[in-house]
Amino acid sequence: MKQETQNRLSNIPVEKIKLGMYLGDVFDAQGNLLFASGTLIHSAEQIELLKKHNVSSVFAIEIKENPGVYDRARVVDVANLEEAYYKELSRAKEIHQYTIQTARETLINAKLGRLMPVKKIETAAEQIVESVSRNPDALVSLAQIKGYDEYVYVHSINVAILITSLACSMGYSKEKLLQAGVGGFLHDIGKMGIPENILNKKGKYSSGEFAIMKRHPDIGISMLKGYRDISDFSRIVVIQHHERYNGSGYPRQLTGSMISEIGLIAAVADVYDAVTTDKDYRAAWTPHKALAMIFQGCDMEYSRRIVEFFTKHLGIYPVGSFVKLSSGEKGIVIRVEKGEILAPDVLILYSADGKKLKEPKEYKLWNMQKMENGSQYRIVQSLNPKDYDICIDNYVKAKPFE
Ligand SMILES: [Fe+2]
Repeated sequence: MKQETQNRLSNIPVEKIKLGMYLGDVFDAQGNLLFASGTLIHSAEQIELLKKHNVSSVFAIEIKENPGVYDRARVVDVANLEEAYYKELSRAKEIHQYTIQTARETLINAKLGRLMPVKKIETAAEQIVESVSRNPDALVSLAQIKGYDEYVYVHSINVAILITSLACSMGYSKEKLLQAGVGGFLHDIGKMGIPENILNKKGKYSSGEFAIMKRHPDIGISMLKGYRDISDFSRIVVIQHHERYNGSGYPRQLTGSMISEIGLIAAVADVYDAVTTDKDYRAAWTPHKALAMIFQGCDMEYSRRIVEFFTKHLGIYPVGSFVKLSSGEKGIVIRVEKGEILAPDVLILYSADGKKLKEPKEYKLWNMQKMENGSQYRIVQSLNPKDYDICIDNYVKAKPFE
């Protein structure tokens, strides 16, 4: 018999939070941590505090202790999945590089008023679709690891990857996936029509500058005029990726069902990639914090249905997250298996007493025996790798390419 996941994550509106549940990290609207991951709800005051801070829903789990047994067939199955993942990861690396190059060429051409290489863009979208269809996780893992350089180009590709892979997991046809990928690729093309002093400004925009920035979806659509091969579906991504479910977005302030589903997907993919990347004016959020913030915007900025798909797709602690375990050990999430989003594979770098290990060791949290004190290994906190001087890229990429 297949073992059920012992840690059931639920997307729970605050009214349904009960005593005895454990919370994931919860942030207020300003991004301050209200409750750290692993907090047990033991009093009504804690629930009141959530309401007081206008938190609408949170990550919450009910921990049921696992007897520690596991199904051998399942282990074999996971081994096969792992092999497919690492196999695809080497191909995905080449695809990532190629598509970034195409994004660079496309955006530079758009800036200079030259023709955009539509055929190359379609090829890039096709490669992304084929990679996520072979194995949905490999390219998505690469999209989680980003340097500071060439943000505009890398962001275009990461958004294309996130949109395509999410749409793929939601059952979109191949044709629609290709069009969605092209849309993701071109979603910010209109930024090439924004004056450079505004586009590259370090620090906060004035209201006038922000009004100009907010024109980029419309500018993008005008730039695509005359490109007959670019579908309406792709154009929706360009025009709607800043619309918000509650009408607080731009450029049309559309609400709810007025926004196409692919527009809602694009909104989540775009904001997730943007906030998890370092900018001149603010440090990158951890993937977990970004997901928690997006999650808290359910039914307001973002569609709950899309966020739920997105969370299941990436895992609560996506690849590249630096986490602390209930044992006190710290490590990096290197792989998330679908259905085990709270119990990924973690590469342990620090022992419980805070010493850096000479040789990192790998834990598969979903398959760990209990600790000596009888409790389960689980993630209790998402940490900032910069506080530990850790370069995530070295660890996540090392295994497949060594
Ligand atoms: Fe944008």
